Amino acid sequence: MTIPHKKLKSGFSLPVFGFGTWRFGGDFRRDLNNNDAEQIDALKTAINYGITHIDTAERYAAGFAEQLVSKAIFGFDRKKLFIVSKVWPTNFRYDDVLRSAHNSLKRLKVSYLDLYLLHKPDLSIPIRQTMKAMDKLKEDGLIKNIGVSNFSVNSFKSAQSLTRNKIVVNQVHYNLIFREPEKSGLLDYCRKNDVLLIAWRPVEKGILSVKGIKIIDEVCRKYNKTAAQIAINWLISQKNVVTLAKMVSQKHLHENLGALNWQMDNSDIEKLRRSFPGQKSVSAAVPLG
Ligand SMILES: NC(=O)c1ccc[n+]([C@@H]2O[C@H](COP(=O)([O-])OP(=O)(O)OC[C@H]3O[C@@H](n4cnc5c(N)ncnc54)[C@H](OP(=O)(O)O)[C@@H]3O)[C@@H](O)[C@H]2O)c1
Repeated sequence: MTIPHKKLKSGFSLPVFGFGTWRFGGDFRRDLNNNDAEQIDALKTAINYGITHIDTAERYAAGFAEQLVSKAIFGFDRKKLFIVSKVWPTNFRYDDVLRSAHNSLKRLKVSYLDLYLLHKPDLSIPIRQTMKAMDKLKEDGLIKNIGVSNFSVNSFKSAQSLTRNKIVVNQVHYNLIFREPEKSGLLDYCRKNDVLLIAWRPVEKGILSVKGIKIIDEVCRKYNKTAAQIAINWLISQKNVVTLAKMVSQKHLHENLGALNWQMDNSDIEKLRRSFPGQKSVSAAVPLG
C-alpha cells in the first residue's frame, strides 16, 4: 500500500506512519533470549506492505536494534527507505556525536541516515558543540536531515539557533492520553515554524487498543474501525503530526495500516481532544526537556 506523506514548506517530507524498534533486541541492553528472527521478519513484512519510515536509536539494545534493522532491510532498495537513528545525550560532545553517527551507520550497514535525532535534551554538555557536529555530519552527506526528540519549545529554539540547517522534526510522546505537546504549546510551535511532530507511542503500548471507553466505542462504530485505528488516525489527521508504532505481531501491523488513508471528521478529532478520559499533561516516560 502507499503510505501518504506530510510535506513541510521547506520541502522535507515524511510518511505519516512508520515502524518503531524500541524493544528490538532487548531494552537498553541486548537480551540474549530475545527472538531476533521474529523481529527481523516483522520489519521485513512491514516494508513489503509499504512501510519505509524506520525508527531506531543507538540506545536501543545498546546498538543491537540497529543491527537487527540492518538484517531486515538487506535486499531492499535503500533509496526507497527512510532510516532514522538517534544519538544519546552522553554522546553529545562534538567528537562523540561524529563517532556515534559513524557507529550507527556501520551497524545499520548504510552509507547515510535520512534523519538523525538528538534523543533527548541534556544540559550538561553545551548544545553548541552538538549542533556543530550535526552540521558537519549533514555537510559530509552522512545524514540528510537534522531533528530532535523530547525537546521543549525552549530547547528546540536554542538548538535551532545554533545550527545552519533547519531542524525538521521533534519526536515526542503524544497520543490520546499524553497531551504534553498540546498543553506546552509545542504542537502550535511546530505548526507555526514548519516543523513535523513525530508522535511516539501512538497506541500507548496497546492500552489505546482496548474498547470499553464510551467516546472511543462511539467513534469506532461511526467509522467501522478499531480503537487502535482511531488512536492512530486521530494523530495523523492533525496538521504537522505523523506517527510510528512498533508492531512485531502481524495482526497489529495489519490493524495499524488500516488507520491510514481515511479521514476522521474535524468534529470527532476535536471531541476526542476535549473529552477523551484520563488525559495527562506531562509524559511519565520522557517529559519534554
Ligand atoms: N524518542 C523517544 O524517546 C522514543 C520513546 C519511545 C518510543 N519511541 C519510538 O516510537 C516507537 C513507538 O513507540 P512504542 O514502541 O514505545 O509504543 P507503541 O508503538 O505505542 O506500542 C508498541 C507495543 O504495542 C503493541 N501494539 C502495536 N499495535 C497494536 C495494536 N494495534 N493493538 C494492540 N497492541 C499493539 C506492540 O505489540 P507487538 O510488538 O507484539 O506487535 C508493542 O508491544 C518506538 O518503537 C520507538 O521507535 C521513541
